Amino acid sequence: MKGRLAKLEEEALSQISSVKDVQHLSELKIKYLGRKGVISSLVKDLPSLPLDDRRRFGRLINKIKCRIEGRIDALAAQFSEREKTERLKGERVDVTLPGRRVPPGRRHPVTQVLDEVEDIFVGFGFEIAEGPDIESDYYNFEALNIPKDHPARDMQDTFYISENLLLRTHTSPVQIRVMERKRPPVRIIAPGAVYRRDSDLSHTPMFRQVEGFMVDEGITFGDLKGVLITFLHTIFDEELAIRFRPSFFPFTEPSAEVDIQCVICGGSGNQCGVCKGSGWIEVLGSGMIHPNVFSNVGYDPEKVTGFAFGLGIERITMLKFGIDNIRYFFDNDVRFLRQF
Ligand code: PHE
Repeated sequence: MKGRLAKLEEEALSQISSVKDVQHLSELKIKYLGRKGVISSLVKDLPSLPLDDRRRFGRLINKIKCRIEGRIDALAAQFSEREKTERLKGERVDVTLPGRRVPPGRRHPVTQVLDEVEDIFVGFGFEIAEGPDIESDYYNFEALNIPKDHPARDMQDTFYISENLLLRTHTSPVQIRVMERKRPPVRIIAPGAVYRRDSDLSHTPMFRQVEGFMVDEGITFGDLKGVLITFLHTIFDEELAIRFRPSFFPFTEPSAEVDIQCVICGGSGNQCGVCKGSGWIEVLGSGMIHPNVFSNVGYDPEKVTGFAFGLGIERITMLKFGIDNIRYFFDNDVRFLRQF
């Protein structure tokens, strides 16, 4: 019996000393010290021995158990220490490494120019208003003196949602919405997206406009010219040549389109693709608000006068930065956007 026990201890300790991981160690712990393990079964056999042997072997078994236990615990402690060291090594932070740069975001060039336009007009005492992108036929056309069969509707072919609802083709409906609830004097700009069935190098189905209008007693075409010339000189360049060209809009009379001297060729027109050799570029539509429009919003056309204008923000941005394709604005390629 004594020999068997000595051999058992030797075998157990040698198995334990060759253990490589926690898993294996806990298997051995169960094998020797578990409830149905080797030591337990030896203890169970004790009562069948003579009393003397029972004591002797009982004590011996207990000692062996203690030594095995001690060895296992020591090894377990070693493993857990090693695991902790490994983990800390993995978590180590090298504080001398250079930081990771987060590139700063910036405003889209179109947004930058829009902000600038708003600032200029706010400086003139204009307030900012907005209207819905989905408009009714009434606000987008009828109230602006464009009846159902008017040929000017063709110019602004657009996306209909139903007979009566459409994506607005211009920001001019905001004129109506504001004047319906506000008495003169009004000085408003209204930025926003507009939609047209149109697509080429300089046109996209969605683009942005800024509408502007000013109504009071005694507003004249001279006020229109003064405001627009000052605006264009501020946003482009003080020396820029500007011309007013007679035009037609159903909601203004008289109407004028405003051209600026081509910012690409300096107005020479010499082999210039942007102004197509003319030296001039159209930048906005404008005019004195039509008496019918005033009547539609309950203003007295005998008492008040006013002017209105609409400009395309993408177009102004292209001219300001010399960009030749409107689609760059929508690609969102950071190599492009970073330049502004
Ligand atoms: N709404 C016109 C357009 O989109 C522009 C405009 C606005 C013209 C105000 C005159 C007055 O073409």
